[in-house]
Amino acid sequence: MNLAINTKNISKSYPGVLANSNVSVQIEKSSIHAIVGENGAGKSTLMKILYGMTKPDQGEIEVFNQSASMSSPKEAINLGIGMVHQHFMLAKNLTVLENIILGIDKPSIKNLGLKKYKKLIEEVMSTYSLDIDLDMFVEDLSVGEKQRVEIIKVLFRGAKILILDEPTAVLVPQEVNELFKNLNNLKQNSVTIIFISHKLDEVLEIADDISVMRAGELIDSVKNENVSKTELAEMMIGKSLPTPPPRSTETKQNKIIDIKSITSESVDGRKFFTDVSFSVFESEILGIAGVEGNGQKEVVESIIGIQNIESGEIFFNGENINNKTTRQRLESGISFIPEDRQLQAMIMDMNLTNNVIIGRQNIEKYKSNLATVKTKNAIKESENVISLFDVKTPNTNTLATALSGGNQQKFVVGRELEDNPSLLIASQPTRGIDIGAQSLIWEKLRQSRDNGLAVLLISADLEELIGLSDRIIVFYQGSTVKELSSDDVSPEDLGGYMTGLKK
Ligand SMILES: Nc1ncnc2c1ncn2[C@@H]1O[C@H](COP(=O)(O)OP(=O)(O)OP(=O)(O)O)[C@@H](O)[C@H]1O
Ligand SMILES: [Mg+2]
Repeated sequence: MNLAINTKNISKSYPGVLANSNVSVQIEKSSIHAIVGENGAGKSTLMKILYGMTKPDQGEIEVFNQSASMSSPKEAINLGIGMVHQHFMLAKNLTVLENIILGIDKPSIKNLGLKKYKKLIEEVMSTYSLDIDLDMFVEDLSVGEKQRVEIIKVLFRGAKILILDEPTAVLVPQEVNELFKNLNNLKQNSVTIIFISHKLDEVLEIADDISVMRAGELIDSVKNENVSKTELAEMMIGKSLPTPPPRSTETKQNKIIDIKSITSESVDGRKFFTDVSFSVFESEILGIAGVEGNGQKEVVESIIGIQNIESGEIFFNGENINNKTTRQRLESGISFIPEDRQLQAMIMDMNLTNNVIIGRQNIEKYKSNLATVKTKNAIKESENVISLFDVKTPNTNTLATALSGGNQQKFVVGRELEDNPSLLIASQPTRGIDIGAQSLIWEKLRQSRDNGLAVLLISADLEELIGLSDRIIVFYQGSTVKELSSDDVSPEDLGGYMTGLKK
C-alpha cells in the first residue's frame, strides 16, 4: 500500500486524560480518510500531533514512508502536511490574495511580489479546480468561500496531505456539496485528505476509508463499501442511531415572546431584516430555517439586545423590552446558546466553575459578597451541568480550552438549560456534537419544552429542525417568507423555500 501517513503507537496524555492511546493508523495516498468518534475520543488530538501542534508522549510517525518528527506546524508544512482549522484564521480586512500570502515562511515562495504571487496562486487554483476572486475582501465572503481560501492557502504552501477538522459543521447543505466536489478534485490530483465529521451520512458519501476512535483508542479502520451507517454508529457509541423523541403535548396559548414588525438597517443603509413578526408560545419549539446571511442571526440577536432595531416592538412575557439592556433581558429569563461557543459563550482560559457564572454575576445565587458562597454555588452548578449533560472532563477546575469541542458545546447547552429560562434561543445547539450526545440534548430540549419552555431553534441541520420543531418559519432575504407545520414538511421542501426556489 502506498501510504501518506503511517503512525505507530501514538500516545498522548493530559492531566487526568489519556487523549490518544497506542494509535496506529494507516492513511493511503490520494484517498479521503474520515475519522469518526464520540466527543473527546481523541480525534483532534491526533490531528494536532500530525500537524506538529502537539508533541506525542510516545510513538512514531511516517510521512510518505519516511520517518518524521514534526515539532511545529512549520515543519509539518515542509513535509507537505496542511491543516484547515475550524475557526478560520483569516484577516477580515485584507483581500483573499493578501491573506493567502500572509505569513509565508517557505524560502522558495518568500517575498515574490504581488503580481508573481497572483500568477502562482492562480496556477494552483487551476491545477485543483478551485475558484475564488483573489481581489475580494475576506469580510465579504461566505463561510464556504472563507474555507476555500484556507484550503488554497495550505495548497499554495505545498500541502499534499490536507487535514480538515469538522469542516462541514459550519457549512449549509449547498456549501457541503461544493466542498465535497472540491475534495474529490483534490483527490484526483494526488492530494490525501483526512477529514473529521460527526455526520455519518456525509462520511459515507465522501470517504474511501473510515477510522473509528473511542476513548483515545483506534477501534478499527474500514473501507466505506464494507460498512453501513448503523454499523458505524454502533462502532462509535456502542448503540444504534438516535432519532428525535416523538412530539408530545399541545402547545399552550400563552405568548412568551411576541415580535411585532421589527426592522433593522446597518450603518450603510443595507437592510438586515424587514418587517419581521412572529411569536413563540409556552411549551413550543419554533424552528427558524434559512441559509446563513438571510437575517435570521440578526433577528435573534435583536431579541437579546445585541442588534439594534429601527422600528417594531419586542414583547417578552407581555412586557415591551425594546429599551431593556442585554443583561436585563438575560436576567429576566431569556437564555442564549450562541452559534460560536468559543467567541460568544465561554471564556476559554477560565475554568468551568467560572464559566458557569458568566452573564449571571448578578443573580441571587452568585451575587453574595462572600466569595466562598459564590464559589460553592458555582462549583455545585457546574458539577450539575457536567453530570446531567455528560460533559467529559476531569473536574470543574479544568479550563474550558482543555475540553474537546463537543464537550465545550455540551457544557454551554447544559448551562443555559439549567438556568430555568422561560425562553431559550438555541442557535446550532448540537453543532460538533456526537450522535449519542445529540440525542441526549434533543431529549432535554423536548423535556424542557413539555415543562413550559419556549424555544427558538436555529439549525442548519434540517432533520433536526423538522424533528424537534412544532412550527417552522423560513427566512429569505431578510424576511419571513413561509410558515410551516413540521408534521408535513420534508428537508427537500424546506431547502426549496430557503433558497427561494419554492414559494
Ligand atoms: N490542551 C488540552 N489540555 C487538557 N486536556 C485536553 C487538551 N486537549 C484535549 N484534551 C482532552 O483530550 C481528550 C481528547 O480530546 P480531543 O479534542 O482530541 O477530542 P475529539 O475527539 O476531537 O472530540 P470532539 O468531537 O468533541 O471535538 C478530551 O478528554 C479532552 O478533554
Ligand atoms: Mg475535536
